[in-house]
Amino acid sequence: MSNYHIKHLEEYFQVYRKSITEPENFWEEIAEEHFLWHKRWDSVLEWDFKKPEVKWFRGAELNVAENCLDRHLQTKADKNAIIFEPNNPDEETEYITYRQLHDRVCRFANVLKEEGIEKGDRVCIYMPMIPDLAVALLACARIGAVHSVVFAGFSATALATRINDAECKMLITADGSYRGEKTIDLKGIADEALEKTPCVESVLVAKRINSNIKMKEGRDKWLQPLLEKSHTYCSMEIVKAEDPLFILYTSGSTGKPKGMVHTSAGYLVYTAFTFKNIFQYNEEDIYWCTADIGWITGHSYIVYGPLANGATSVMYEGIPTHPHYGRFWEIVEKHKVNQFYTAPTVIRALAKQDLEHVENHDLSSLKVLGTVGEPINEDAWHWYNDNIGKKRSPIVDTWWQTETGGIMISPIPFTTPTKPTYATLPLPGIQPVLLDDEGAEINNNQVNGNLCIKFPWPSIARTIWGDHERFRQTYFDRFKDHYFTGDGAFRDEVGYYRITGRVDDVVIVSGHNLGTAPIEDAINEHPSVVESAIVGFPHEIKGSALYGFVILKNVGEWRVHENVRKEINQIITEHIGPIAKLDKIQFTSGLPKTRSGKIMRRILRKVAAKDLDDMGDTSTLLNPEVVDEIIENAIK
Ligand code: PRX
Repeated sequence: MSNYHIKHLEEYFQVYRKSITEPENFWEEIAEEHFLWHKRWDSVLEWDFKKPEVKWFRGAELNVAENCLDRHLQTKADKNAIIFEPNNPDEETEYITYRQLHDRVCRFANVLKEEGIEKGDRVCIYMPMIPDLAVALLACARIGAVHSVVFAGFSATALATRINDAECKMLITADGSYRGEKTIDLKGIADEALEKTPCVESVLVAKRINSNIKMKEGRDKWLQPLLEKSHTYCSMEIVKAEDPLFILYTSGSTGKPKGMVHTSAGYLVYTAFTFKNIFQYNEEDIYWCTADIGWITGHSYIVYGPLANGATSVMYEGIPTHPHYGRFWEIVEKHKVNQFYTAPTVIRALAKQDLEHVENHDLSSLKVLGTVGEPINEDAWHWYNDNIGKKRSPIVDTWWQTETGGIMISPIPFTTPTKPTYATLPLPGIQPVLLDDEGAEINNNQVNGNLCIKFPWPSIARTIWGDHERFRQTYFDRFKDHYFTGDGAFRDEVGYYRITGRVDDVVIVSGHNLGTAPIEDAINEHPSVVESAIVGFPHEIKGSALYGFVILKNVGEWRVHENVRKEINQIITEHIGPIAKLDKIQFTSGLPKTRSGKIMRRILRKVAAKDLDDMGDTSTLLNPEVVDEIIENAIK
C-alpha cells in the first residue's frame, strides 16, 4: 500500500494508525519513494519539546528546488507549472511550463549569485503576485539562500523591521503593483524602508507597472536585463535536511513579529504529501489557490506543495472584485479549474453580491473546494457548497498556521464526510489533543479545550529567527511537552474538530493574523494617546474586525476629536499596513484593569461584540466604575 495518496475512509484510518504507531517508518517510506535525495538520512526523527528541538531526516542532503522542478523535466517538461492570470483581464495569460520555470529559476539563481548571494544569506522579497515572485523563492532555494517574503501590503516600517530582524543582504521588489484599478508604489515604500536597513547591499527591481521610479546608483538594478543575460542553467547547492529554507514573519500576541524558520526536508515532504491528499490532485488537474505568496498559504500551497507534485497551479495577480464580482468564477471557467482554495472572507464578500455573477459562469470543472485562515461560518459554508460546488464538490476546511508549515486538520475529499464549520480529522502524522487550562488532557468528546499537538510533524517551524527562547516560551511553555497552537477547539461526538478561535491576543481579520500588542504600540506613539487596548469583534465579512479603546491625554478634548481617529488609523497604516486599521475607535477615560494592572480584555471583547447581558465578575477590578462608562459610550 502506498501511504502517499489516500483515497477512501478505511484507508485513511489505516494510514493514520500507522503514522501514529510507527511515525518514523511512515515518513521514511514517503520520503524514500517520492523525493530526490543526494544523501540519505542518518535518523528519521530526533526531538525534544522541552528544548524545544525537532530534527527530521537528520544527515540527509537535498535541494528543494530540484525536487520541485528538475525532477519533473524527464516526464513533464512541457506541462504547465504555473498559469499566470494578470490583474487586468485584457492582458494575456502567461503559461509557464516546467521547462520554462526551471530555466527562469536558473537564470534568477545565477543573478543572485552574481550579486554575491551565498548559501545561508537572507534575501527579502517584497513583490506583487507575478511569476517572478515564485521564481525568486525557488531561485533562493536553488542556491541555498534563505528567503523572507514580506507581504506587499505591509508598510515601509513593517518591511524595514523584518529586513533588519533577518539581516537580509538583498531586497527583491518591483516598480509597483496592480491592485484592482489602483497601482501601488512598491518601490517608493521599499525606498523608505531601505533608509533604515543598513544590512541591504543590493536591490533587484522587477518592472511591472512601468512607473517612473528612482533607482539608487550602485544599489538598485533592474531585474529583467540581468535575467536576460544570465544562463539557463545554474548548478544547485546541496543543502542539509535541517538547513533553513525560509523565514516567514507572523504577528505575535506581544512585541515584534516572529520570524518563523522552516527547514528544508521536512517542510518539502509534508507540504507535498498534504497537497496531494487534501486536493486529491490528479495528473491533468488545474489547481488554484487564491492566497498571496506573501503568506504561508502561498508558500506551501502555491509554490512548494503543488510544484513538488508536478501540478499545474494558477497564480492570480488581482483581487476578487476587479473588474467585476464574477472575476474568480470567470477564471475558474477559463482555466477549467478543478481544485479551488480560498479564504472565508472572500466567500462572505462574494456571497453578498448578486448570484448572477456566479451563474454566468460554467463551474462544472470544480471537484474540490477549500477554505483556510479563519473559521468559516455556517452561512458562508452553505453558500459555497450550494452555489460554487453545486453540492458535488466536497469542501475542505483546512486548519493550520504559519508555524505548522502545512495543513494539520482537514477533511480528505471523497474520503472524510464533511460537516459545516468543522475542520474534521487530523491528517496522518498529526496528533492533536485538547488540554484544559491546567494542562490536563481532556479525553472525552463533545468538549472544548486548548488545541495542542503532542508529537512533532515534519513541517513544524524549528525556531523564531534569532530568538529560540521566545520560540520556547510562545509555543512550548504554557503546556508541558506540547506544542500550543494558541487556538481553542471543540471536539464533537465522533471526534471531529471545530476551531473556535484564538485564545490569546491575536485577532484574525479577513484571514490575516494580527497581534493586538504591536498595533497598540503603534497607536501609543500618537502624541495625544496615553494608552490603548484593542480587541476583535465579529464582522459580517471580515470574520473579525478590530475595535480600539483609547485614552487620550486631554480628556476634555475627546468628544470633538474626530481627527485623532483618522490619525490613529494613519499611524497604524504607516507602522503595519492598512490591513491592521481599526474599524471602531472608542475614546474612554480609563480601561478596566485588574489589581495587578492587567487590562481585563474579556470585558472589552463583550462591549465590542455588543454582548452586554452578563459582564461577569468585575469585583476584582481596580476601577469597576469605568465599565459603565465604556458600555454607555460603546460604538454601535
Ligand atoms: O486561528 C487559526 C486561524 O488562523 C491562525 C493561523 O494564522 P496564520 O499563521 O496567518 O496562517 C493562516 C493560514 C494557514 C490559526 O491559529 N485558522 C487557520 N485556518 C483555520 C483557522 N481558524 C479556523 N478554521 C480554519 N480552517
